[in-house]
Amino acid sequence: MSAIFTETRVKRRCNSSHVKGKLMLFARHSSDLRRRRRSRFPLRLAAAVAAAAVAALVASPLGSEPASAAPTQAQGESLRDLAAQRGIFFGVAVSPGPLQNDSSYQDIAGGEFSSITHENDMKWESVQPSPGQFNFDNADFINSFAQDNSQRIHGHTLVWHSQLPSWVEEQGTSPEALREIMNNHIGTVAGRYAGQYSSWDAVNEPWEDDGSWRQSVFYTQLGEDYVTEALTLADQADPGASHYINDYNTDGVNAKSNAMYNLAESLVSQGAPLDGVGFQSHLIAGQVPGDYQQNLERFAELGLEVAVTELDIRIPRPVTQEKLEQQAEDYSTVVQACLNVSACQGVTVWGVSDQHSWVNDWFPEDAEPLLFDDNYQPKPAYYAVQETLRG
Ligand code: G3I
Repeated sequence: MSAIFTETRVKRRCNSSHVKGKLMLFARHSSDLRRRRRSRFPLRLAAAVAAAAVAALVASPLGSEPASAAPTQAQGESLRDLAAQRGIFFGVAVSPGPLQNDSSYQDIAGGEFSSITHENDMKWESVQPSPGQFNFDNADFINSFAQDNSQRIHGHTLVWHSQLPSWVEEQGTSPEALREIMNNHIGTVAGRYAGQYSSWDAVNEPWEDDGSWRQSVFYTQLGEDYVTEALTLADQADPGASHYINDYNTDGVNAKSNAMYNLAESLVSQGAPLDGVGFQSHLIAGQVPGDYQQNLERFAELGLEVAVTELDIRIPRPVTQEKLEQQAEDYSTVVQACLNVSACQGVTVWGVSDQHSWVNDWFPEDAEPLLFDDNYQPKPAYYAVQETLRG
């Protein structure tokens, strides 16, 4: 919630330092609120109020630079505008290649979405491929894009077993050695962006599907306390951001989400710096869990933020009109669940258009999981999300 002022697209027109100053003040105030009271429920209201306040501020003749809207959108009808009116963000995962070279991709990423996640470029192998050798070029490029478009930024991710360079396991051969590596990585990465990110996946994918602990190097060396240690380091490096645990296949009530729930409950009762739980939501058309909202709700009742962090809904081939309509209904179900749960901060989709989805490489038997098709045309799912956000 530390950057809720970025929720409105209108703010992108506003270069006035006067207005920015006021907005930063509001962001800091929100962050203080977050520290004082763990429950996020009133902040959702605050986000809507902030959106209205920002709209009022920029309605004054302070800003003049026109916003570049996505080609498909009438003024005020982008997903980011509609989401801001409902007090949530609507985000997207991006990659630097098309963000640099493809104007349609840029227009949609900047015009339709109010939150940015680096699809791959904040991961350990990207930012610290060799011990002590940090490379933030791509991450910084994406951050600049987000800042230019007044978007919040969600950091993905600090501690994860995957896309982890082999040197971490090779050198982290004792708890002390691994602790030192983790300390340096989290301190350097989260510390570099302190004050700029709204939230971080401090820990990603700690669970196996059966709800047992994933046997990552972090778990095998440090035991389950590695989660608290990572959260604590991330909180020390950037106390203003919200710190999340994020996982997939935790979208309904099942063994894996029960394990997440038990951990979250225990961390909250210990006063660990856990702020939220992310539900990746890599789903299949026609298979959204019937208890999706109920599952979000139980985490919210712990006083935590929740967010849909990596939404895509892939379609088993062959793709038909009927399946595209099912996909649209499924997107609507997920977005409506977030709207219905007041602690839900927002929804991020895992890619700009179908041509950029990880699904193309990982699930060739499935297809077309996103809101825009290969030619950047909005799909039925896009219009369903728009309609759902309109309420
Ligand atoms: O960087 C190399 C490049 O040098 C090489 O030429 C190319 C050849 O295939 O591969 C590139 O690496 C790819 C990398 O994405 C960056 O593009 C990997 O092969 C590819 O496996 C990797 O896939 C990513 C995947 O995470 C890896 O785990 C996907 O793009 C990314 O969307 C996906 O995202 C994850 C989230 O982080 C966590 N939740 C699940 C989600 C989907 O798997």
